[in-house]
Amino acid sequence: MSLTNQRELFEIPDQITYLNCAYMSPLLRAAREAGQVAIARKSTPWRIAARDFFEDSETARRLFAELISADADGVALIPAASYGLSLAAANLPMRPGQRIVLLEDEFPSNVYPWRDLAARVGGSVEVVARPDDFDWTRTLLERIDDRTAVVAVPNCHWTDGSLVDLGRVGKRAHEVGAALVVDATQSLGAAPFDVGTVQPDFLVAASYKWLLGPYSLGFVYVAPPHRAGRPLEFNWIAREDSEDFAGLVNYRDVFQPGARRFDVGERSNFALLPMAMVALRQILDWRVEEVAATLGELTAHIEREGQRLSLHATPSARRAAHMIGLRSDTPLSPDLPARLAAANVYVSVRGNSIRVSPHLYNAAEDVDRLVSALAGAL
Ligand SMILES: Cc1ncc(COP(=O)(O)O)c(C=O)c1O
Repeated sequence: MSLTNQRELFEIPDQITYLNCAYMSPLLRAAREAGQVAIARKSTPWRIAARDFFEDSETARRLFAELISADADGVALIPAASYGLSLAAANLPMRPGQRIVLLEDEFPSNVYPWRDLAARVGGSVEVVARPDDFDWTRTLLERIDDRTAVVAVPNCHWTDGSLVDLGRVGKRAHEVGAALVVDATQSLGAAPFDVGTVQPDFLVAASYKWLLGPYSLGFVYVAPPHRAGRPLEFNWIAREDSEDFAGLVNYRDVFQPGARRFDVGERSNFALLPMAMVALRQILDWRVEEVAATLGELTAHIEREGQRLSLHATPSARRAAHMIGLRSDTPLSPDLPARLAAANVYVSVRGNSIRVSPHLYNAAEDVDRLVSALAGAL
């Protein structure tokens, strides 16, 4: 079932056609309001109590866990996807000569930690070339073997939404003794995800795109076998009994339970957490399946209209519902995004692909505006 248009929940002026959620989502009105209230609290710190260092952190952890059908104990609060991926790279075992499998043209946050790990242990990074038929799953399955230590993949490619079947890839990875690490930044919130089905070792997501959250906040899910691992940094609140402010100098070796040991320092972010909580509640209220179905109708419309402009889309069977890449046979002009922006139409160009990423504030009229702006700008 599809959702009705939700534009009134956002603050997007009528003349703006914003089709760039994969770049950065707008805040919900309610999230901005929560953020403003939260910022104002810092002007009155006598109203910030010890329990406030814990309550929102736990609520955000729980809401994120609900979104991926995980236990809240498995979730840590992080500032960026790169932080979660670096945490995974610091904790996963890898022997000299082993390989880390990545997709071609992957987002750099999911490349640099693996290059570093490979260099440290004397292993290598193996990049799976972009298949002409967009079937990443087949090419990944062909490349995962007993030399593989880690498979670090998204569930859709950030440039065009082309899909990876994480269930099949994860199963194969685990069969050969490799770990599965998922960067879900470009899909969580708009594509259903269930940790029980995919069984990632680590899963990360920045919140400022499809989770409709603020910048500089993200989440990592850590599977049970890795929860006794080594944090990237050592902060006081991650230790047992940190709730007892008077006793903080009774230094502890024991951590807070579960993945809390991996929380970033100052994770009790008084300004950002309330915004993220509003957004997560809204997404859970919409239900991710419905968000995906609704955005799928819009991207199908974009695909049909793109064909009329000789733009070739990632085929629907091989892409996520919520975003679409439109490829041109001729090189795209570097100033295409600026020319579209001059017509108040916002998309991204990644490689030779025009990446169109709508959300529930978009309607069919936005697709019409995109098409007429593209017709004038290509
Ligand atoms: C696939 C993917 N992962 C992660 C990010 C953001 O990474 P970070 O939070 O490390 O800045 C982006 C941003 O475009 C992305 O497309």
